[in-house]
Amino acid sequence: MIDVEMLRVFTAELELCKVQPGETVAVLTAAGAMNDYAQTFMIAASSLGATVFHVDIMDHATANRAGVYGKTPLAGNRAAIDALKSADMVIDLMGMLFSAEQIEIQSAGTRVLRVGEPMHILKQMFPTTDHRRRVELGEQMIKNARELRVTSAAGTDLRYRLQQYPVVTQYGYTDTPGRWDHFPSAFVFTQGNDGEIDGTVVVQPGDILCAFKRYIQDPVKLTVKEGRVTAIEGNGIDAALLRDYIESFQDPRAYAISHIGWGMHERATWYHMLATPRLREERIMNALSYYGNVLFSTGPNTEVGGTNDTPCHLDIPMRKCSLYLDDRPIVAAGKIVIPELAAAGM
Ligand code: FE2
Repeated sequence: MIDVEMLRVFTAELELCKVQPGETVAVLTAAGAMNDYAQTFMIAASSLGATVFHVDIMDHATANRAGVYGKTPLAGNRAAIDALKSADMVIDLMGMLFSAEQIEIQSAGTRVLRVGEPMHILKQMFPTTDHRRRVELGEQMIKNARELRVTSAAGTDLRYRLQQYPVVTQYGYTDTPGRWDHFPSAFVFTQGNDGEIDGTVVVQPGDILCAFKRYIQDPVKLTVKEGRVTAIEGNGIDAALLRDYIESFQDPRAYAISHIGWGMHERATWYHMLATPRLREERIMNALSYYGNVLFSTGPNTEVGGTNDTPCHLDIPMRKCSLYLDDRPIVAAGKIVIPELAAAGM
């Protein structure tokens, strides 16, 4: 049974991705999950003239769960990887971010679109070409900067020296060979130079710990020295949970600082995790894309071409922070202050 509304949304998304006659589109799932999305994406791609196929692989219980990244059931499945590499575009309904397989597929020139959110969020945050324009403007601004600094009234003051790593854009669709994106998104990020991130982050009540799908209840102070978290302090449960979780990986690389950037989606909501039933595994794109957030994270840096592939990845979108590029304010207390970066009416 095909949901006409789902087909309309997926077709519009693939039009943004410039799927066209002569292209091959592959859909990737694990253990038959997300089959309604898989079937509907194939019909949508086919209606645009593409040749389509579906790769559904066995799930050896290694599929991504929130906060554990890069180890997927696709690893070692040479035939499946080669099939996906042969496509012009892969629609990833399994979740292979941070995996060596994803890097290999992208390197073959295949563009990859991750989709994992429930249908109502795909509609609520449906991407626009203006998201792309503003996110790519943010990309240029970071590329030109030597230093990124994050501050807050709560005591955050963290500096990232830049230029070693590329800037990554996410605007919710992709028409560029070899490029990855996540439908829906609107944010931009980079990674500080190795050993050149220093300062303090004070995570505040209401900030989001995506791995736990949790709103922080008690302040947590993170001390960062030379690109690594060296102390996690706080009297409440959140500091204890964070310490316990990172420790559980028994991997010193889990303490590394990962990507940093800001959100630009004017329709993303902060409360969505409380309002969204647990129908799908992913429910974090509102938080990551939230307009004027500062998205702080720890763990791997393979996404920007680095070598740290620790599976312990924490995304922590923070509100009411300020972000500066070479001392120029970009976000001031949660508000985007560069007119060309701002969404209409914000
Ligand atoms: Fe992340």
